[in-house]
Amino acid sequence: MLLTREEMTLHHDVPRFSIEQDRETILRALSHLFYGEVGAIKIGQWVTKAPDLEGMWEIVKQTRDETRHANIFRRLLQRYGVAPDAALVGDMADLHGVISHTWEEMLFESMVVGEGLALALIYFYHDVIADPPIRRGLRRVIHDEESHVEYGERKIKEYVARQPELRGQLLTIQEALVQHYSGLITGQTPADPLEELIAGFPMTIIQMHLIRLQRMGLL
Ligand SMILES: [Fe+2]
Ligand SMILES: [Fe+2]
Repeated sequence: MLLTREEMTLHHDVPRFSIEQDRETILRALSHLFYGEVGAIKIGQWVTKAPDLEGMWEIVKQTRDETRHANIFRRLLQRYGVAPDAALVGDMADLHGVISHTWEEMLFESMVVGEGLALALIYFYHDVIADPPIRRGLRRVIHDEESHVEYGERKIKEYVARQPELRGQLLTIQEALVQHYSGLITGQTPADPLEELIAGFPMTIIQMHLIRLQRMGLL
C-alpha cells in the first residue's frame, strides 16, 4: 500500500475499550462493522462489468472476502449473545450507495477512496478495543482490506498511465465522495465515547487520503 499502517494510525495508546467495561459501545461498533461489510458485499454486482478475466476474479475474490468479514462480525456479536442491531441501518438499499458509472470509477470509489478511508477506522477499532477475539477478527479483516486497497491503487495507476484524461474524471468524483464519507461521520450525533473519538477524525483521515492520492500521482 502507498500509505503504511503507521501513517494511518489514529490511536497510539493502549486499547481502552473492553466488553466488560463498555459492552454497549463495543456491541454497537460490531454492528456498524457488520453492516459496513454487508454493504461491501454489493461490490459483487460489478462482476458482469469487469473488462477482463483478472478483474472478474478480483471482484469474485473481494465479494467472498467481504462475506467472510460480515460473518466474522456476526459471529463476534453472537459470542456476546446478540444479533446485529438492525435499528442502525434505515434501509438496506442505502448500504454501499455507489456513484460510479464506469469500471475505473468503481475501482477508485470502492477500493481507493471507500476502503482506504474505512481501513483507517478498522485500524482504529483494532487499536482501541482490548478483547482478544475482536482484535483477532479485525486482524483478519485488515489483512484482506489492505490487499483490496493495494489492488485499487495499482490498477488505477495503470489505467491513468494509459488514459491520462481519466485523472480529471476521478478527481471530480473524489470531491463528492470525500464529502459523502465525512458527512456520514459528522452528520450523526455520537452515541458513545468511542463514536465521540471517531467524530473528531474526519479531517485527519482525509489528510491521510490526500497523501495516498499524491503518491498515486493523481494530485
Ligand atoms: Fe470488508
Ligand atoms: Fe474490501
